[in-house]
Amino acid sequence: MKYNFDTVVDRMKSSSVKWDGAEALFGEKDLLPLWVADMDFKVPEEVSKAVADKAAHGIFGYTIREESYYQSIMDWMKTRHNWTIEKEWICHSPGVVTALSLAVQAYTNPGDKVIVQPPVYYPFMKVTETNDREVVYNPLVNNNGTYEMDFEDLVSKIDETVKLLMLCNPHNPGGFVWKKEDLQRLGDICMEHGILVISDEIHSDLVFKKGSHVPFASLSEQFAQNSITSTAPSKTFNLAGLQTSNIIIPNEKLREKFMAETDRNAIGMPNSFGPVATEAAYTHGAQWLDEVMSYIEGNLKFITDYFAENVPALKVLPLEATYLAWIDCSELGMTPEELETFFLSKAHVALNQGKVFGPGGEGFVRMNLACSRSIVEKAAKQIKDAVNTLSV
Ligand SMILES: Cc1ncc(COP(=O)(O)O)c(C=O)c1O
Repeated sequence: MKYNFDTVVDRMKSSSVKWDGAEALFGEKDLLPLWVADMDFKVPEEVSKAVADKAAHGIFGYTIREESYYQSIMDWMKTRHNWTIEKEWICHSPGVVTALSLAVQAYTNPGDKVIVQPPVYYPFMKVTETNDREVVYNPLVNNNGTYEMDFEDLVSKIDETVKLLMLCNPHNPGGFVWKKEDLQRLGDICMEHGILVISDEIHSDLVFKKGSHVPFASLSEQFAQNSITSTAPSKTFNLAGLQTSNIIIPNEKLREKFMAETDRNAIGMPNSFGPVATEAAYTHGAQWLDEVMSYIEGNLKFITDYFAENVPALKVLPLEATYLAWIDCSELGMTPEELETFFLSKAHVALNQGKVFGPGGEGFVRMNLACSRSIVEKAAKQIKDAVNTLSV
C-alpha cells in the first residue's frame, strides 16, 4: 500500500460542511460527523500539486478547458468502464445536482412528471419539485437487504405526462450496482413510452469489484441516444468543493437543449482549479482510488462485524458500491424522529436519516465510511453504548 488512510486529518476550522457545519445543522455539540458524502482523506498528491501549481501562478482569470482535460475524461471512461465516449458529448455543470435541475428544465415543462425510485438520493425529488414538476414514486423492493426494481409498478405509473426517469446508477442509498438485465429492461420500458433517462453515475468509480458498474448509455446506441449521464471526479477523488462535473450527452439535440439551459443560467465556465484537479486525478489517481476502496471495504467489514457482535439490532446491508453504509435500525422500534434524536443526542453521531430518501427509507440510517478506521471505531462504540442505555 502506497497510501496511509489511518492518519486522521483534522478538518475542524477548514470550512468543512461535514465537520464545521454539523453543530449548526443538527443543533448538537461534539458530534462525530459521518453524514454528507465527502471523504476525510487527502486527495492524491498529484492532484494537490496541480492545484498548488495553479495557485502559485497567482492569476485566476476566466478559464478554459484544455484538450488534455477532455482526453483525461475519455481515457478514464474507457479504461475504468470500457465505455468509449467522444469529446463533443462532454457537457459541463458545476455539480451533478445542478445538472439534474438543468435536465428537468431542459426536457420537461411545469406540471410534467418525473419518475424516481426511492429510497433514493433526496435531491432527485427536490429538483423536480422546486422546478414545479411532479414526482412519481416507483419504489424499490427490499428483499431481505437486496433491492430490486419493480417493473410492473413502473409500467402502471406511466402516462403521457411522464417525461423523465431519474436513475441512480450505482444506487444511493443502498450502495448497489444495477445488473445489465435490469438496466436493459428499464431502458426498454423508457424507450417504449418516450421517457428520457437521466442516469446519475457519480458513484460509478466507487465499486468494490472493479468493472462491475455498467454505464446505462453503454448498453446500446438506442439507450445512448435516449439518456444523459452525469459523471464527476468529486465523489471518486474527494473534489466536491471544486465544483466540477461532466455530463455526457451523445444525442446532439438533447445536448443542444442542455447547453441552452447552461447558457440561460450562465454557468458554463469552470473555476480555475476544477479542471486541473480533474485532469490530474483521472490521469494519476487510479492507484489511490484502488487503495481507498480497499481501505473502505475494511471499514465496512469492521462495522458489519462489530454491529453483528455487539449491536445485533443494527443490520448493515451488503454494499457493492459507494462509501455509504445503509443500516437497518428497524429492530430498535423507533419512529424516524426518535431515531434521529437517538443518534444525535444519545450516540453523538451525525448520520443521514433514511426518511429523507423517500418511501422505504424510514427506519434506516446512512453512515459515511470514508474516514480513518479509528473514527469508525469511535462511532461504533458510541452507538453501542447508546443502544445499551435503551435496554437497561
Ligand atoms: C447520487 C448523487 N448524485 C449527486 C450527488 C452530488 O453531486 P454534486 O455535489 O456534484 O452536486 C451526490 C452526493 O452525494 C449523490 O449521491
